[in-house]
Amino acid sequence: MSDKVVLAYSGGLDTSVAVQWIKEKYKLDVIALTIDVGNERDFSAVRQKALKVGAVKALVIDAKELFVKYFAFPALQADALYEGQYPLATALSRPLMAKLMVDTALAEGATAIAHGCTGKGNDQVRFDVSVNALAPDLKIIAPAREWGMTREETIAYAQEHNIPVPITVSSPYSIDECLWGRAIECGVLEDPWVEPPDDVFTWTNSPAQAPDKPQYVEIGFEKGIPVTLDGQKLDGVSLIEQLNELAGKHGVGRIDHIEDRLVGIKSREIYEAPAAMVLIQAHQALEAMTLSKDQLRFKQKVAVECADLVYNGLWFSQLNRDLSAYVLSSQRYVSGTVRLKLFKGSSSVVGRKSLHSLYNLSLATYDKGDQFDQSASVGFIHLWGLPVKIQAQVQLLGDKEGPLSIMGTKEPEEG
Ligand code: ARG
Repeated sequence: MSDKVVLAYSGGLDTSVAVQWIKEKYKLDVIALTIDVGNERDFSAVRQKALKVGAVKALVIDAKELFVKYFAFPALQADALYEGQYPLATALSRPLMAKLMVDTALAEGATAIAHGCTGKGNDQVRFDVSVNALAPDLKIIAPAREWGMTREETIAYAQEHNIPVPITVSSPYSIDECLWGRAIECGVLEDPWVEPPDDVFTWTNSPAQAPDKPQYVEIGFEKGIPVTLDGQKLDGVSLIEQLNELAGKHGVGRIDHIEDRLVGIKSREIYEAPAAMVLIQAHQALEAMTLSKDQLRFKQKVAVECADLVYNGLWFSQLNRDLSAYVLSSQRYVSGTVRLKLFKGSSSVVGRKSLHSLYNLSLATYDKGDQFDQSASVGFIHLWGLPVKIQAQVQLLGDKEGPLSIMGTKEPEEG
């Protein structure tokens, strides 16, 4: 009996070829593991295909709930957006996949795990770092990083070995999907000047084709977790699925990002993430109402840290644990409802309410009932501006160019 390897199997060309390639090169029995994180696939067909192309065993794990509970929603609570744009869909799914691959490898007595990542992307980093953290004794095989075949050579290899080449190979795009979003790269998208053609989008209508009437949606949060959609209580997976559908119909959630990969490459990435973008927007609106200014300022810095850490494959670090504890603690009063308006590619927050709201009408109003003591502002401004006033008297007003240079307009020299 040969040793075994657990391969993360998608059913696509690369991982199908990998089954055969690993058998030849490493003389290992391949256990194909397909993980459902909300990628729209026919998983029984994927399973059958794994066996057909030579896997000794093919497993499918439905990991949607785990993904939402431990990855997507914590990232939402953190408001994590990589470089301010990308809600980290793929990046969040990788550590979960790594964990399930490791669990499967240990349960099956395998000595190695394998994945279909190339040597140019972030996903190889996320898988390798996570597997090494969880099970340092498992060997990692990355066929597409090792085999050095071009796309054409991979197809030729498949044909030689009777591996069915899916028609979708004619699609020039590399696509990855999970509940938190869909990533599309390659093909014409590699030219950053070219507008993404319509055929890259499958989750979102083009805004021009979106309904001519706006639609309102209300999202209810409890401690930073979305729990209702238009008043209806939903589990996380259903809520995200329904919101993907709804916001996608209105063309919301398209992202065109020149992104900095960890391996030093800038790449052009297109994403569709209707639910993730609407939820982050709504969550931020509720935080604006329930967190203090200082909490908001500090949390924005934490959000950048969280996003970088997830993007860079460091999910299983203790820093992640520490930051998560902070984020969780910050969500104690982030409960309430946000109303958004979806219309032709845009989503706007048009209402929010919370029992823990720090918005105080009697302080904010310009109408009757104003309780704000305007006379107190005079003393406050006196002290607030004191250092500026003193410094101006000593340093600014005496200096001929001072006031102007602060405005950035230096008179041209004569001569
Ligand atoms: N650039 C994104 C990331 O690094 C998406 C990667 C998509 N992966 C893929 N195999 N198409 O998270």
